[in-house]
Amino acid sequence: MRLRVPLPDPTVPGSTERPLQEAELVSILRNVTGGDLGSLALCAGVVLSAVAGAPALAERLRTGSDREAAAIVDELLRIDSPFVSNRRVATCPVTLAGQEIGAGERVVLHWTSANRDERCFGDPERRDPEGHAAANLVYGIGRHVCPGRPLATLELVVMVQEVLRAADLHAAPTRGEREVDPVGGWAQAPVVLTPR
Ligand code: HEM
Repeated sequence: MRLRVPLPDPTVPGSTERPLQEAELVSILRNVTGGDLGSLALCAGVVLSAVAGAPALAERLRTGSDREAAAIVDELLRIDSPFVSNRRVATCPVTLAGQEIGAGERVVLHWTSANRDERCFGDPERRDPEGHAAANLVYGIGRHVCPGRPLATLELVVMVQEVLRAADLHAAPTRGEREVDPVGGWAQAPVVLTPR
């Protein structure tokens, strides 16, 4: 089966779609596997280490609805997003927020910076799961918005609920180790689990 993309094929006059090239297929497969494995491991570290230092939050996750838990998980990831940035190449000249960008220029979309923008969120560390939801860019925006979001959210909510059902979660006496660019979050996030 040849997967096709809705863009004109330069070798076929008048065409409106073309087959995906190998590099594009590799990129998509990389996003699906990397998104599911690497990003989820980083997100799990962010969520568990934040909850370990916040007993009231743990209680809300234990007793609240799945919907509330999903909003809390999204908000914790906004504050400390492991998915730092993506790149684009401008296809035409454009002025964005007063900045002129020429065709062919490379642009970095810095999700972590946008998710902590004081003009939008005030104090970026302040948690407001419902109030901040509409401006949350953890999963991107627009035509490349993450298609794995529902799966990632489900996995993270089940993970944190099951951990909290089985154990009390506390911050570990030793500090974790931060990840380094190009990803964010924790490389190691030690927490203490006491069986309930
Ligand atoms: C674990 C948390 C995850 C985060 C924080 C995350 C974040 C993102 C972001 C910010 C983008 C936008 C990229 C861009 O605009 O260039 C994206 C795209 C994408 N994500 Fe995720 N993702 C996650 C999980 C997943 C999962 C579980 C899957 C698949 C099973 C997945 C598959 C993809 C794919 C295929 C794209 C590319 C979409 C496109 O270019 O049209 N992601 N993700």
